[in-house]
Amino acid sequence: MKVVGIHSSPRRKNSNTLKLLDSALAGAKESGADIELIDIAKLKIKYCTACDSCHDKGVCSIKDDYQLVLEKLLGADGIIWSSPNYMTNVTAQLKTLFDRSPLIVHEQLFDGKYGLSLTTAGSGIDEVDFVLNIMNTFMISCGGNAIGGVGYAMAQGPSAIDAAIVKSQEMGKELIEAIKEKRHYPEQEARQEAWRSRFKYVVLANRDHWTHNCDYWMEKGWLKE
Ligand SMILES: Cc1cc2nc3c(=O)[nH]c(=O)nc-3n(C[C@H](O)[C@H](O)[C@H](O)COP(=O)(O)O)c2cc1C
Repeated sequence: MKVVGIHSSPRRKNSNTLKLLDSALAGAKESGADIELIDIAKLKIKYCTACDSCHDKGVCSIKDDYQLVLEKLLGADGIIWSSPNYMTNVTAQLKTLFDRSPLIVHEQLFDGKYGLSLTTAGSGIDEVDFVLNIMNTFMISCGGNAIGGVGYAMAQGPSAIDAAIVKSQEMGKELIEAIKEKRHYPEQEARQEAWRSRFKYVVLANRDHWTHNCDYWMEKGWLKE
C-alpha cells in the first residue's frame, strides 16, 4: 500500500505544516504503508495554459515536473495533502498543481483512492476548516474519498501544534484503515454522481475537441447515465 504526502510550503524544513505531514506519514507507515513525501515547492510546475491537450489527447502539453507528480499520485492508494493557509487559501504551489489536473477531474482518476488534508495558519483559527475543505473538495472532485483533515492556528497558543501533531499521526493511521476497508462516504459519492450527471453535457458540448475525455466517458458508460 502506497501513501504519497504532498508538501507545498516554501518554508521547507522550517515549515509548521511539514511537522503535521511528517507525523501523518509516520502514522501511515506504522500501519504498514510505503510512504513518500513530495516537496512540490522544490519542483518546477508551471501554470496551466488551458491548451485542452489533456482533454483531447489525455496528456499535458507542458513538459515539467508535473508528470512525475501525476505518476506518483496515480500510483498511490492514499494521498496526504498539506498546505499552510496563504490568504485564506492553499499556497500558490498547491493551487498550481490543482490547476494542472483537469484530466484527473474529468476522468475521475482518483476513484478508489483516499485523501487526508492538513493545514496550519497564523491567526486564522476560523479559517482552518475552510482551507481543509479546499483540499478535500479537490480530492472529491477527482473521484476520490476525503477522510477528513487536521489543522491548527498559531493563535491557539504554543501547545496547539503538539495536539495537531498527535492528531495527524492518528489520522495517518485512520487513512490506512479507510483504504483497507474500502470505506464508503455516501455523501461524497452522491456529489460525484450529481457532478457526472451535470458534466456529461459539458463533455458532449466539447466532443469535437475533447476526444480523450469523450472516449473515456463512453467507455465508462457515463454519457448514458
Ligand atoms: C504569504 C502568506 C500568507 C499568509 N496568509 C495567512 C492567512 O490568510 N491567514 C492566516 O491565519 N495565516 C496566514 N499566514 C500564516 C501561515 O499560514 C502560518 O504561519 C503557517 O503556519 C505557515 O506554515 P509553514 O510554516 O508550513 O509555511 C500567511 C503566511 C504567508 C507567508
